[in-house]
Amino acid sequence: MGKGYYISKHLATAAMVLAAIALVTIIALSVVYNREKSKNAAKFSKATTLPVFPTPKTSNEPWDKYRLPDTLSPQYYNVTLWPRLVKNANGMYIFTGISGVMFTCEKKTDLILIHSNKLNLTVFKGHHAKLTGLSGVTAPAIKTTWFQSETQYLVIQLEGKLKPGKDYWLYTEFTGELADDLEGFYRSEYMENGEKKIIAITQMQATYARKAFPCFDEPGMKAVFHITLIHDRGTTALSNSQEIKTENVIIDGMAITRTIFGPTKRMSTYLIAFVVSDFTYIDAKDKKGVLVRIWARKKAIEDRQGDYALNITQPILEFFEKYYNTSYPLSKSDQIALPDFNSGAMENWGLVAYRETALLYDPRTSANGNKQRIVTVVSHELAHMWFGNLVTVKWWNDLWLNEGFASYVEYLGADYAEPTWNMKDQTILYDLQSAFAVDSLTSSHPLSRKEEEVNTPSEISEMFNTISYSKGAAVLKMLSEFLTESVFAKGLSNYLKQFAFGSSVHSDLWEYLQKAVDQTPGIKLPYSVHEIMNRWILQMGFPVVTIDTRTGNVSQKHFLLEPEAVVDRKSEFNYEWFVPIKWMKKGQVQDQLWLLQKSAIHKPMKVSKNEWVLANLHVSGYFRVNYDLGNWERLLSQLESNHQVIPVVNRAQILDDAFNLARASIINITLALRTTKYLLHEREYIPWEAALRNLNYFFQLFDRSEVYGAMQAYLKKQVKPLFEYFGTISSNWTTVPSGHTDQFTQIIALSLACSTGVEGCRELTRSWFKKWMQNPPNNAIHPNLRSTVYCNAIAAGGAEEWNFGWQMFQKATVAAEAVKLRSALACTKVPWLLNRYLEYTMNPEKIRKQDATSTIGYIASNIIGQPLAWDFVRANWDYFFKLYGTGSFIFSGLIRDVTYRFCTPFELSQLKRFQKDNAETGFGSGTQALQQAIEKTTAKIKWLEGNKEPVLQWFLSESA
Ligand code: BES
Ligand code: ZN
Repeated sequence: MGKGYYISKHLATAAMVLAAIALVTIIALSVVYNREKSKNAAKFSKATTLPVFPTPKTSNEPWDKYRLPDTLSPQYYNVTLWPRLVKNANGMYIFTGISGVMFTCEKKTDLILIHSNKLNLTVFKGHHAKLTGLSGVTAPAIKTTWFQSETQYLVIQLEGKLKPGKDYWLYTEFTGELADDLEGFYRSEYMENGEKKIIAITQMQATYARKAFPCFDEPGMKAVFHITLIHDRGTTALSNSQEIKTENVIIDGMAITRTIFGPTKRMSTYLIAFVVSDFTYIDAKDKKGVLVRIWARKKAIEDRQGDYALNITQPILEFFEKYYNTSYPLSKSDQIALPDFNSGAMENWGLVAYRETALLYDPRTSANGNKQRIVTVVSHELAHMWFGNLVTVKWWNDLWLNEGFASYVEYLGADYAEPTWNMKDQTILYDLQSAFAVDSLTSSHPLSRKEEEVNTPSEISEMFNTISYSKGAAVLKMLSEFLTESVFAKGLSNYLKQFAFGSSVHSDLWEYLQKAVDQTPGIKLPYSVHEIMNRWILQMGFPVVTIDTRTGNVSQKHFLLEPEAVVDRKSEFNYEWFVPIKWMKKGQVQDQLWLLQKSAIHKPMKVSKNEWVLANLHVSGYFRVNYDLGNWERLLSQLESNHQVIPVVNRAQILDDAFNLARASIINITLALRTTKYLLHEREYIPWEAALRNLNYFFQLFDRSEVYGAMQAYLKKQVKPLFEYFGTISSNWTTVPSGHTDQFTQIIALSLACSTGVEGCRELTRSWFKKWMQNPPNNAIHPNLRSTVYCNAIAAGGAEEWNFGWQMFQKATVAAEAVKLRSALACTKVPWLLNRYLEYTMNPEKIRKQDATSTIGYIASNIIGQPLAWDFVRANWDYFFKLYGTGSFIFSGLIRDVTYRFCTPFELSQLKRFQKDNAETGFGSGTQALQQAIEKTTAKIKWLEGNKEPVLQWFLSESA
């Protein structure tokens, strides 16, 4: 998923370079176009180069503002697009288009601003558009038109004023490049039966619809779209609504097909989608007659890789219809798997697009983790069909509500489709704990931004980050739990009804939830939904709640990973929260409490010496918990004597809280390490995964120091029983357990046992891989275990194993298998292989562009690969930045991954140097990640000073 970025002033130079590139592109396109026009219908006629004006910094002109004025509102569009899937005489792929938009004048104006980017607009009588008045109104003549590159507008100045309440029709013709840039209307290539295939697809969110046709490209500017696609015979065209007419026609002597789609519902531009491909599909009708289709490459559909997605789509739609108490708003639901896709998936209304790994499942080669990914992504995107698409946030500053909401309810939908998978509990790993990790830094930010703080495409992209997704999900889950799920769902359904086909802001949702609370007898809140929630969304961070069971005192404090860090950002709430605390006393569930001030006595929390208190029961709240030492001791002994008295997710919470409290120097590190002792008896996935993440962090911190040996020895001791347990229940690793999450635990057992050197593990994985190498068509390794086996074998081997893995990667026809190999290839310990692999990421023939940065990330997680990847990224920063464009969301992940291991003063100085050296180019969506990396490295250096020795001593004593 995309993590955020914002445009810095240092981007000015880059922006100018890009403007120059845009100009060259436009000139090139006009040449292309002039060639094209001779072949095409007269409609797609003449174009010339547009004048491009840079934006002066201090300008107050409306065309220099990133937000559209409120003078015009679009009603409907007629858009016809014609992508060419063969190169033209100039060796370019292009599309041509014609588009009209009917808009109503809301306020008197002599100016039309409409988004348009990288489109080469045809000139009619000296202007780049035609304007007509409707219903007998005469439109003023166009005075002048130009293209404002920075704000991406076509600017149309008129001789006279448009009249309020009157409707007008604005018409344009244009050409664009069908580039392989994964943005707007773009092309993707793949091989099938040795033949290169090309498809045309779209990705409009957040600001790329303007690259496909001129439009009022803001989420609040909803309209109805009438779309027509012209495409080669033998290909299929898809869009948001159902095709109503497909006919073979001759245009300008070319025998082609025209597909006309029915009008869409009133919707936002960022949800528009078109696809032209020769894909096939499988389909089904749901109970209410909604047509559900899964589209993919022919081979993938023939291999039945779409079956799982088709099977789960119906129950998920059914679940959300019930949950939202609103019917699915459209007559069809297409979902398509694309070979090149920048994000994991995109919720285009009625035509959801996915990476292949997020939609296609092949039981013979995909792991159960791949299957889980599919059910959660499908559930997430289908949740958006209502929340996000039917009701849309007015502006991107509220993106957290859209993405946080879908990230929360995706678990509910997935749980309905796969009720035995324990999906709801997994939120604490994938949302709550991931959000804590970034929200405990001073460089974090509040969930909700002010509307005026988010303007440029770069600032918008920056909103797609862990805070919006994961913290958003965690605080909404907390809200749903303290309101109760039924009150939450009732308020939600009224909110959807009120704002259907329109847009809203987050306080509208609070208002409707409050109404639901007011209508429900028996539910008591200490404050209104607004007052409680504002504290969670308008200030960054979260509290650590400390319970002193000797006195019953409960207090809260802003949790910061670096205890001495200075928080520059002011909060109107003083970094205090209204905290709902569910809790238990020695296994008995107690009444929920609210902590409404800095500190208060809660008598029931004062307990006797043989009792313990556990707060944040079922981890429904977005906060960490600390106790007095006596209570910690009693919790530890409960874990060791009978851990099952403590709910599974709270066992994970105890581990994660303890480690993070220790990292923040709030408790002693040995206390945190002691929470791992009970793992000898633990068989559940969620606590093991939480432990693994914290231990991995330790691995990365210590694997270059003398602590490593002692730590390895301790972990080997801890994981051995788990390894033996799974060996026994899986008849010596020949089967996998039946429980879904047990299968995950089995993978943890194998990977941790191999990495710590448990006897027999590495031999096993090596022999499985060897067998495969001897007879490649027959891969007997269970799909669940493949990632671990491939990685271990390639790490232990040399060029022969690597080259074999590479060959298998290139041959893979199932995307999930290709990912396993691609990540395992990064496990080699041979530097030249790693360097060559890094070079491959620059070659889209070898590593797809969509996969380049994650591959670098895999290499960076390898102890040998990390410095190589860091050097590679530093050396090529400029190149990446230009390749992906300043608006891309990939930079934050890239910076996070290559700096993840940093913990020395030297590494910190390198980071700061990097920041300085590239100030001119800028960091786009990586700006925040770089800030976070500096903060995390600083914290680690300090922490290591006081903690390395006790950690070493503890591991030595425990592994003896
Ligand atoms: N709307 C996003 C896709 C998106 C992300 C568009 C970033 C533009 C920039 C979509 O709903 C989404 O969140 N996809 C996730 C998967 C999801 C299961 C968390 C993704 O792409 O990772
Ligand atoms: Zn989403």
